[in-house]
Amino acid sequence: MAKGIVIYYSRSGNTKEMAEIIAKAMNEADLPTDCKSVDKVKAKDLLDYDAIVIGSPTYYGHMAGPIKELIDETVAFHGGLDGKVGAAFSSAGNIGGGNETTIMGIIEAMLIAGLTIQGDPQGDHYGPVSIGKPDDRVREQCRRRGRRIAELTKKMLV
Ligand SMILES: Cc1cc2nc3c(=O)[nH]c(=O)nc-3n(C[C@H](O)[C@H](O)[C@H](O)COP(=O)(O)O)c2cc1C
Repeated sequence: MAKGIVIYYSRSGNTKEMAEIIAKAMNEADLPTDCKSVDKVKAKDLLDYDAIVIGSPTYYGHMAGPIKELIDETVAFHGGLDGKVGAAFSSAGNIGGGNETTIMGIIEAMLIAGLTIQGDPQGDHYGPVSIGKPDDRVREQCRRRGRRIAELTKKMLV
């Protein structure tokens, strides 16, 4: 059976809160999904999942170091993630603070690894973004993204 994982790095809890909402929505949309802090994930664990969702706080317009380290460690099985579904999200301190460049950085790495990424014409286009603590708008975007990832993953495995 297909399964997903939401991986996050979070110092003050904002990205973690987004991760938990996305994972809950994926589970509720019938894609069994784990939600783990990046320090609890080994790169090779990613091989076990059909959908890989990664969230990071925006640090100087980029993903945080521990997320980049995890991605870099996947070089040990480069090509092994080909065809899985990917998605990304980010929390930042400020509007215009670089959360979309953070998401795009994660998505660029996912594309190189062969993951399939779906944008969103109505919701947050590249992936959910939050300014500080998630508000109602962000929570809805996270639920929406979680549902969409689950639907796409199940469709691709038919
Ligand atoms: C090292 C560092 C760099 C940061 N760089 C940015 C930045 O470039 N733009 C921005 O808007 N916020 C920046 N922030 C703020 C965080 O992205 C923001 O507080 C985020 O919500 C933290 O997520 P967390 O609660 O999951 O740790 C930075 C914070 C830290 C600690």
